[in-house]
Amino acid sequence: MKKNNRTIHATFYYFLLVALLTLVSCKENKKPVPDNSPFQEKYRPQVHFTPPAHWMNDPNGMVYHNGEYHFFYQHYPEKSVWGPMHWGHAISTDLVHWEHMPIAIYPDSLGYIFSGSAVVDSKNTSGLGTADNPPLIAFFTYHDMEAEKQERFGEIESQAIAYSLDNGRTWTKYEKNPVVTNPGIRDFRDPKVIWHEPTQQWIMSIASGQVIKFYTSPDCIDWTYASEYGEGVGNHDGVWECPDLFPLQVSGSGETKWVLIVNINPGGPAGGSATQYFVGDFDGKNFTSAQDVTLWMDYGKDNYAGVTWSNVTDNRRILVGWMNNWQYAGEKPTQVWSGAATFPRDLGLVDAGGRYLLTSTPVKEIEKLYGESELIKNTEITDGKTIFEKTPFAKAPVEITLTFDVKDNTRLGFPGKYGITFKNSAGEYYTIGYDNVDKFFYADRTNATSEEISENFPSMQIVPFIINAETTTWRIIVDTSSMEFFTSEGKVVITNVVYPSETFDQIEVFAENGKINLTEARITELKSIWKTGK
Ligand code: FRU
Repeated sequence: MKKNNRTIHATFYYFLLVALLTLVSCKENKKPVPDNSPFQEKYRPQVHFTPPAHWMNDPNGMVYHNGEYHFFYQHYPEKSVWGPMHWGHAISTDLVHWEHMPIAIYPDSLGYIFSGSAVVDSKNTSGLGTADNPPLIAFFTYHDMEAEKQERFGEIESQAIAYSLDNGRTWTKYEKNPVVTNPGIRDFRDPKVIWHEPTQQWIMSIASGQVIKFYTSPDCIDWTYASEYGEGVGNHDGVWECPDLFPLQVSGSGETKWVLIVNINPGGPAGGSATQYFVGDFDGKNFTSAQDVTLWMDYGKDNYAGVTWSNVTDNRRILVGWMNNWQYAGEKPTQVWSGAATFPRDLGLVDAGGRYLLTSTPVKEIEKLYGESELIKNTEITDGKTIFEKTPFAKAPVEITLTFDVKDNTRLGFPGKYGITFKNSAGEYYTIGYDNVDKFFYADRTNATSEEISENFPSMQIVPFIINAETTTWRIIVDTSSMEFFTSEGKVVITNVVYPSETFDQIEVFAENGKINLTEARITELKSIWKTGK
């Protein structure tokens, strides 16, 4: 008995010691929380990429290689606020499920690691790999905080490279960095590199104040200034950041145009950060465009710094943005992590009566998340009608599609406004609608959040647009803290984050001063991308 007691005591102290040691070593371990964490905190997106812990902003270095989509991101691994920038890293084989990887690139004596891109140097033009094992090359901006403090403007930002010879698992900084020095401009950053097949050279687009500068190189290392674009065109109410340049085939024709994406902060149509684009031609040296208006990729408040993956097959152009806005990025009510990526979108180009417009469509891989689904047909809407009230899964994350019959939209009795409202029992709501009198789509998140975030957070966005069709189909990806709306074949997109105190669980379709036929409404359950989610 005595001996037994002693054994029990010894065992107890042994386990206590092990527990204490584990606790201490966990505290010291600064690695991100493991991938099998529940990720079930309040507001944690369930179908969008988020870092396991702490701060994230722009997507960086997106490259597809050997069946893997690499996603890097601006990351401060110590806190949930912006700080010394690293490149965080994650990998996916299907664009929707992500494996968190160790930090890829750390800041050093030359500065913080700001945004940039990555390519597969498949011909080993750089000589940094071999013909058999060509390198992945990452391009980023060094941002020197000392130079910034001392206002040595022309020395703050320069472009540098790092390379990987093991499928993006580890990265080595090039020893003679930087590869592009600063020509004397305060804001000179976010290099996006592509291979230009017709001229057999690399092209680097750099956001430079309020223009984009293009550089060319035979080998990713020696860069020559080529030209700049942007003076007097588009929006100039903020600093130009995170450019992207790529060819895209015009839908339904054999024509190919070049798209230049330019992120701008502030100056967006909804206030703060947003993404404008130009459609034109690029000959390996100059970008030109006949576009005479400013075009926006997304009219919501929360799709910024979006750029596209390089090296993707099947002519796909896939973009991901940071679902946030610098107006309130640091004031989010999430604590464990901060920042999320938008749902990835396939970009397309349409010729809309002589004007080229970019279209965004959620990638088809979303179907991998589909669970149960329910369909209702031919419902007459007058005033407000709750739909899917008995659907057990009618709560984020879900995808909703609605088709309204609008062929008689000028007849008497056709509603002045119609749309959809998501509500909860706390009285918070989020509305997406169409104003048939003044012809605009709108999203209202003035009452979609219980938290005090910033005076810039409550907002209503308006997208002037004439629906020229017999039906209008709306698609909404609803996650725990975001609403992404796509309509008119992806020409109209509104992305907003929301922080309702309880997840929206009531869905109401409405028509004001008239009636409309909701020809089809479908709700589809989305399974969590994290292992233990819904
Ligand atoms: C855009 C941006 C980039 C910069 C990075 C710094 O959101 O300001 O221009 O490289 O964030 O984190």
